[in-house]
Amino acid sequence: MSGRIPKEFISELLMRVDIVDVINSHVPLKKSGANYVARCPFHLEKTPSFSVSRKKQFFHCFGCGASGNVIGFLMDFNRLDFVEAVEDLALFAGLPVPKEEGQGYRANLPKLNELQALLASVAEYYIEQLRVQQAGKQAVAYLKKRGINSQYATEYKLGYAPFEWQELTEKFNQDLLLMAGVLGVNDDDNRVYGRFRHRVMFPIRSKRGNVIGFGGRVLDDSMPKYLNSPETVLFHKSQEVYGLYELLARNAKPLRILVVEGYMDVIALAQFGVGYAVAALGTALTEQHINLLFRFSAEIVLCFDGDKAGRMAAWKAMDAVFPCLKDDRQVKVMLLPLEHDPDSIIRVEGVNAFVLRVEQATVLSDYFFAQLSEHLDLATVEGCSQLTLKAEPYLQKMPDGLLKDMMFQRLGQLANFKVARKKLTVKNLNKKKRISCSRIGQAFS
Ligand code: UTP
Ligand code: MN
Repeated sequence: MSGRIPKEFISELLMRVDIVDVINSHVPLKKSGANYVARCPFHLEKTPSFSVSRKKQFFHCFGCGASGNVIGFLMDFNRLDFVEAVEDLALFAGLPVPKEEGQGYRANLPKLNELQALLASVAEYYIEQLRVQQAGKQAVAYLKKRGINSQYATEYKLGYAPFEWQELTEKFNQDLLLMAGVLGVNDDDNRVYGRFRHRVMFPIRSKRGNVIGFGGRVLDDSMPKYLNSPETVLFHKSQEVYGLYELLARNAKPLRILVVEGYMDVIALAQFGVGYAVAALGTALTEQHINLLFRFSAEIVLCFDGDKAGRMAAWKAMDAVFPCLKDDRQVKVMLLPLEHDPDSIIRVEGVNAFVLRVEQATVLSDYFFAQLSEHLDLATVEGCSQLTLKAEPYLQKMPDGLLKDMMFQRLGQLANFKVARKKLTVKNLNKKKRISCSRIGQAFS
């Protein structure tokens, strides 16, 4: 895993770059007295109130109050986390990023750039194959049969991986292909093989738009239906979601983000006008997925297929969701009718009915307590005690705040019980948190 970036490096970086140059490369600046000004990129305005000071190496908007140093600017402007912003800045300054412990993969930036370039070219190669290969035409026919129109196939860069994969090694460097997960090595005889053969290819892009991996679907009913890139230095399934780049390109500040199960679902929804869906990459949702999405929207709606697997996945998602539930965040759950996934239901019911389903999704608290109470008799002491026992571990994982207090309060009401949160209450008080004694009192009375 990546190590920490040494503080000294960040200081050096901040000395080497000039905030005016960096911001100017994103938002053209005009000189005005000692400072530089522009229309603020963080709010809508007609006259410039965004000011950058070379002397202070600081930006400030007199209109909306946004302010910070160059790293803060990159984080806000490009929606990066701190490490990503430092890495971008280092790239801008032409410095490799050192890491404190071990050989972090991010230390090896030139290699990463090569891999990124390779994956971009491979994605283009797969797109080309839709046209040049006879079998590629089969893939086009398959996509048509699935009702995906060419505009969306283009937007999502869908392609075709031919059965014969050797051409890849003629066109590209084999070591890089292996490192990028496009090729694999057989454990038994060490032979190199093509991972994706005769499949429709879905490039997976990072939120910054770089291709980092692929999903590949068969054109018929054979198994396995989808193959995905393995974990690589660029591709971490637990941290990435499918469709986020495309979503943000449409709307950088979506009111809500819908999380669905499949690649096909994301594309079909976009095509029908629901442009705010993403999918996990064939893995269970993680805290990292949820936190990532909350960077862009305050509401996440988790949408699951109507089958048993979908319902189980919905419940499983609770493990990831609870630790992320800060007060200003809202999670909802939406279960589709049996036999349906988003792709199928939007085609049957149309977009308006689908959006209505999204708008009427169950708030997390209702879903959570309903699930737990399903087979319990809350008229009995035993049922109430079961409910408390099952619910408490989830609630304990929530970050301290009003929402957590209220969830405990709700549990208390449902279980007809004054839930003793002794440990937690003491911890809150000790931690000089924002929570006042009176509020804790209210929550527990
Ligand atoms: P689904 O089977 O629900 O996908 O699996 P889907 O998109 O609806 O598939 P089709 O094309 O319409 O039939 C949901 C997701 O689970 C992962 C994929 O990411 C898929 O999009 N998956 C599924 C796999 O990784 N491997 C599989 O064999 C099946
Ligand atoms: Mn489907």
